[in-house]
Amino acid sequence: MKLQENLEKVSIPFDVYKVREDFPILKTTVRGNPLVYFDNAATTQKPISVIERIRKYYEQENSNVHRGVHYLSEIATKEFEAAREQVRKFINAEFKEEIIFTRGTTEAINLVANSFGKTFIGQGDEIIISEMEHHSNIVPWQLLCEETGAKLRVIPFDDNGELILDELEKFLNERTKLISIVHVSNSLGTVNPVKKIVEIAHSYAVPVLLDGAQSIMHQKIDVQDLGCDFFVFSGHKIYGPTGIGVLYGKKDLLEKMRPYQGGGDMIKSVTFQKTTYNDLPYKFEAGTPNIEGAIGLRAAIDYLNEIGLENIAQYENELLNYATEKLSQISNLKLIGTAKSKGPILSFILENIHPHDVGTILDYEGIAVRTGHHCTQPVMEHFKIPATTRASLSFYNTKEEVDRLVQGIQKVIKVFS
Ligand code: ALA
Repeated sequence: MKLQENLEKVSIPFDVYKVREDFPILKTTVRGNPLVYFDNAATTQKPISVIERIRKYYEQENSNVHRGVHYLSEIATKEFEAAREQVRKFINAEFKEEIIFTRGTTEAINLVANSFGKTFIGQGDEIIISEMEHHSNIVPWQLLCEETGAKLRVIPFDDNGELILDELEKFLNERTKLISIVHVSNSLGTVNPVKKIVEIAHSYAVPVLLDGAQSIMHQKIDVQDLGCDFFVFSGHKIYGPTGIGVLYGKKDLLEKMRPYQGGGDMIKSVTFQKTTYNDLPYKFEAGTPNIEGAIGLRAAIDYLNEIGLENIAQYENELLNYATEKLSQISNLKLIGTAKSKGPILSFILENIHPHDVGTILDYEGIAVRTGHHCTQPVMEHFKIPATTRASLSFYNTKEEVDRLVQGIQKVIKVFS
């Protein structure tokens, strides 16, 4: 069946035009054109419920948490901890103590590299990552290797952007201390078979960290079903505020790990002779946390739950198929990342036209895309290209917007022909 017929037969699980009303920024214009926002993998736009929740926090609840006996501090603490519980339910973690608030995905990975890394990884040990990692899942491990004398092993991918899993089995040995791997690639869109990777790793008793920065907003995540030992993500990519993120870690592992940063709230008692550390999750949350971020994140999760992650996944997948078919019809365009299982990310190059020029001309049409290496220089190196143009979709995007992107690309080609 042709895609177009297919789309007509599928009942869209929610009213996208009604959903768009929830996002004030989508009503704005850019350079005289209605905004088409296709940079959702970089950050998502915020619904009014999130914006208003943060405003309410500052107008009525602002106070520090876990410290005061006064009314406002009690309210702020209650709301902050309710956000933690909401995150726990959202990813189906077993215990609330397994949810550590961080600044984002990057800080969560750095936390594991510094804490798990310096507790369990030493000279000659090995850490496995993949060729499609974001720099934030490469550099923290390189820093750790420099300090400890451990080694990085890198699973390659093929020209479709699919991991060559046979290589993983070859790398695993008694020196392997951790696999840290991306769930959905931000530059290729590939959805990696992470459940299988966890199974293989666990058969060698190796723990697994999943970088969920690009999966958390597109599909239902169940950390117990995935079986992973760590899962990390950022609030701003799931329609919440910037500066808040989550590290999920299995309790028994987190308990054995040394603190990442020292400061207030992460201690039980301090003397100049000896300091004892607080219980989980506070052991890993030194200093005043991002209270409004956590509270805003909870509002974002509430919003997503209302629409339903299953509905979101179905709609975004349809939109991805539509966009893939449309872009594939453009003769000078090559898609980078053609894995069988993909998230709604389309990276592409146009023959003889630099992605920065593509992005600039699209911007004049009011279309926001990202151009560059997307913090995945090894992916660019694999394809021997300097950069790509990337359109990353969300459930608030429409087929009409995809059509505008196609028209925009045709304009780019005309300008350069
Ligand atoms: N990692 C984000 C992206 O892919 C910023 O755009």
